[in-house]
Amino acid sequence: MCGIFGYIGKNVKVSALIDGLSRLEYRGYDSCGFAGVHQGRFFLRKRPGKIAQLKKELKPVLNNQFGTAILHTRWATHGEPNKKNAHPHLGGAGNIAIVHNGIIENYMKLRSILIQEGVKFLSDTDTEVISHLIEKFYKGTIEEAVYEAVKELKGSYALGVISKREPDKLVVVRKGSPLIIGLGKDGKFLASDLPALTSLVKKVVHLEDEQIAVVSRCDTKVFNFQREQVDVKIEDIIITAEDTGKKGLAHFMLKEIYEQPQVFKRIQSLYVKNNRVCFPNINMKESYFKNIKKIYITACGTAYHAGYVGKYLLEKYCNLDIELDTSSEFRYRKVNLGKDNLLIAISQSGETADTLAAVKEAKKKGAKILSICNVLGSSLIKESHGFIHTVAGPEIGVASTKAYTAQMSAFYLFTLYLSQVKGLVDEKQSQEFLFDFEKVSQYVEDIFKDDKKMKKIARKFSRFGCFLFLGRGINYPLAMEGALKLKEISYIPAEGYAAGEMKHGPIALIDEYRGVVCIAPKDELYEKMVSNIQEIKARKGKVLGILNRGDTEASTLSDEIIYIPEFKNQDFAPFLVAVCLQLFAYHVAKNLKCEIDQPRNLAKSVTVE
Ligand code: M6R
Repeated sequence: MCGIFGYIGKNVKVSALIDGLSRLEYRGYDSCGFAGVHQGRFFLRKRPGKIAQLKKELKPVLNNQFGTAILHTRWATHGEPNKKNAHPHLGGAGNIAIVHNGIIENYMKLRSILIQEGVKFLSDTDTEVISHLIEKFYKGTIEEAVYEAVKELKGSYALGVISKREPDKLVVVRKGSPLIIGLGKDGKFLASDLPALTSLVKKVVHLEDEQIAVVSRCDTKVFNFQREQVDVKIEDIIITAEDTGKKGLAHFMLKEIYEQPQVFKRIQSLYVKNNRVCFPNINMKESYFKNIKKIYITACGTAYHAGYVGKYLLEKYCNLDIELDTSSEFRYRKVNLGKDNLLIAISQSGETADTLAAVKEAKKKGAKILSICNVLGSSLIKESHGFIHTVAGPEIGVASTKAYTAQMSAFYLFTLYLSQVKGLVDEKQSQEFLFDFEKVSQYVEDIFKDDKKMKKIARKFSRFGCFLFLGRGINYPLAMEGALKLKEISYIPAEGYAAGEMKHGPIALIDEYRGVVCIAPKDELYEKMVSNIQEIKARKGKVLGILNRGDTEASTLSDEIIYIPEFKNQDFAPFLVAVCLQLFAYHVAKNLKCEIDQPRNLAKSVTVE
């Protein structure tokens, strides 16, 4: 949430800085701003709306160059998205400017103290207390002032701070929100995430939690909050600018949907050798997993839905008790975790505040943490005892697609891994499981071939003002994910329900104006789904069936059908269902002319509670 970009160096064009910021726009896009130092003064521009608006305003100066600048794209927490609340914020004396990502929890108290001291606040943000604090402590150097200010702050923050009195310095702070320093030949860049840096630098420093860096054109010094200098760990950027582009497609979301077959192949080739599953970074002994009886799973949003699929798999194939909860609930529950318990935390970004808090809480109680995560070097991976990297590549679209099915893949392979370790499967059963897993990418490619039909169906269903998504068993979480995908990018109210629960309430919604997506592949619960579809038809609901080719029952009841291939083991159907529901949501949103990659009110990485 919120993207920070910055530069310190020889000189860089405003247009390049705006481009860098634009690559972080998925993190927040309700207002934005720019502050650069020019001849001992701040050049400051802020505006509500997207970066394109700011770029328009900066058109006359796009070719101008700055040696010191900070930029910000905001996802509002405190204060509505307008010009006065947009970052950067200046200190009262106008000596320093800051950009902030995170939340200052004690800002009310700090604000009232500062007001008593005579400070005039110009915005409604929590951030402004930081700029005034730094200004207040600014006696010698900017870093001294930042150290003093940070002592007063409670909460999470990534900060970029510049001063017009010391234009050769950029001071950055990380506590709970990510920040990366990109090391270029003529200057250093600052960014909340790697996609902003891939076309600019090859080497980066991932700032760790509770670190402050003092960056100049030629030097990067890193200190901990106790003001001790620490080693700077320089790493290569392993993703390319191409990975973070749209590959000529209209939206990141579509590009990411199309990348899924490659992701499945990558996961299989990385983690499966001779029909055995092996996770190189799991860091826990097989003997530990052999005796494990109960596992806890936690995540947010789409990652939670992947965890739900994981729950079904682990219960069915590994005879385990699984407890699953959203991280925002889990972190406050009185769960009796101890050193014998394993918590699996799932996250695309590895920076989701609630998931990180849940993990920290569980660790405090002695539990072991295994994370399933897409971003190496993320806070979640750093907090975990072991991890499974989902290797989906950068996901830019706010609606998660390839990261979701990659998380599911990790669960399928982890299920097989545990079954193998526990001696619950023999060689033949392992082979059969992997045979179906290998088929996934090919079957997904088959679904892509039906694009024309998908568009036609989406056009027809775009007119419904409300949707129900129904599934049973392992496809119940898919119903929840289908509904989430549709509502987040098309803004159509949609609910995902266990089909068996329909009679306990949601059936009241059904009439000829409701779209009902029924997930009914041929599995052991198929007949029950058919009965549910009958009940919907009896009430004139409009049914979109996700069915297997060759279906003879549900197909006669459905108004429209998306056909999917049949697996030998139908527990693999969720992969195909997921892709269909992603494409369906995408095309509905496109018909409705919605902002697919940047839906309103959302941001990609939820780094605040
Ligand atoms: O980065 P994470 O996987 O931890 O993010 C969790 C959710 O915020 C995320 O899945 C969200 O629900 C997506 N917008 C869904 O498409």
